[in-house]
Amino acid sequence: MEFLGFTLRNNLFVAPMAGVTDRPFRQLCKSLGAGLAVSEMVTSNSLLYGSAKTRRRANHEGEVAPISVQIAGADPAMMAAAARYNVDRGAQIVDINMGCPAKKICNVMAGSALLRDEPLVGKILAAVVNAVPQTPVTLKIRTGWDTSNRNALSILKIAEQSGIRALAMHGRTRACGYSGHAEYDTIRAVKAAARIPLIANGDIVSPETAKFVLDSTGADALMIGRAAQGRPWLFREIEHFLKTGTHLLPPRVTEIHRILLAHLEDLYLFYGTETGVRIARKHISWYTKGLVGSAAFRHMMNQLPTIALQRQAVNDFFLTLAEHHEHLPYVNSDPAAPVLSNAHCEDLAA
Ligand SMILES: Cc1cc2nc3c(=O)[nH]c(=O)nc-3n(C[C@H](O)[C@H](O)[C@H](O)COP(=O)(O)O)c2cc1C
Repeated sequence: MEFLGFTLRNNLFVAPMAGVTDRPFRQLCKSLGAGLAVSEMVTSNSLLYGSAKTRRRANHEGEVAPISVQIAGADPAMMAAAARYNVDRGAQIVDINMGCPAKKICNVMAGSALLRDEPLVGKILAAVVNAVPQTPVTLKIRTGWDTSNRNALSILKIAEQSGIRALAMHGRTRACGYSGHAEYDTIRAVKAAARIPLIANGDIVSPETAKFVLDSTGADALMIGRAAQGRPWLFREIEHFLKTGTHLLPPRVTEIHRILLAHLEDLYLFYGTETGVRIARKHISWYTKGLVGSAAFRHMMNQLPTIALQRQAVNDFFLTLAEHHEHLPYVNSDPAAPVLSNAHCEDLAA
């Protein structure tokens, strides 16, 4: 797919998820079939530029191009500075977050809270676009502030007038949080009016839902978040289904074991020992969620303090699993079900 001057493997994007889409996870998803991966958001509060977290989030060493970095904030000048900061550190696409309902973000009037103030939206978009004239700027929104204020269409117009090059839309209002189902009608209406590429997002969990959302919205691309947690191979499964109409065989337990071990080594290297072990727990939990016998394993694994013990526990769990099963044995036949009930976006912004 041609996208903003880049040739992508396909139109399947990894959604930005604070605390999840770090460099190791983005790389992994790209290697397993994602066409593009948007980074976790980087705050526009320049006071935080020096923090280890912000520096880590702006680290793209070895990342497959194009590198798309999301920024969040409500002050046009600070957002412009944040865009320049990230472009100087390798961002090839700057994405603006007006889609995240996290309290920390909404309280300071950023993320999806901005959708309520259209003049300010216009100022922020123009400031960022002008700050990085050589770099495409994209925008991520929800369908509106709440169900009686679905203003995605007017935000689209403001975005196009401001020089935004693509729009990603999560099919829920800010007020909806993650409840109910994503409404694809609003996405279809915005796509029909759009002159820029439209990326549909929300509740895409399988090859079938991906095809349904593409067909019913007419979107140019899809963005997938929660369902990829612990399932980065979902992208190649969707890619295959969209191309051929048939299903790839699910990965073998032995392959997933290999993928997870490589993911862990990457996390340990990227974060260092202590933080690496802590961040890895979250991912190990996602990889094993819903699997037969996995609750006791997670409980035990969460107590382990070192890389060696964590690695050993993962090896033991997957080797035992592989002795009895060729493919992952889910308790519930739908592996996405436990993933989607796990939505939280509250403590993620800092
Ligand atoms: C843990 C988590 C963190 C998120 N962080 C961000 C973020 O930093 N920026 C953003 O625009 N959206 C963020 N989101 C929203 C996702 O990008 C996406 O819009 C939402 O999860 C719906 O897509 P899904 O149904 O495929 O998960 C986050 C969502 C989750 C679950």
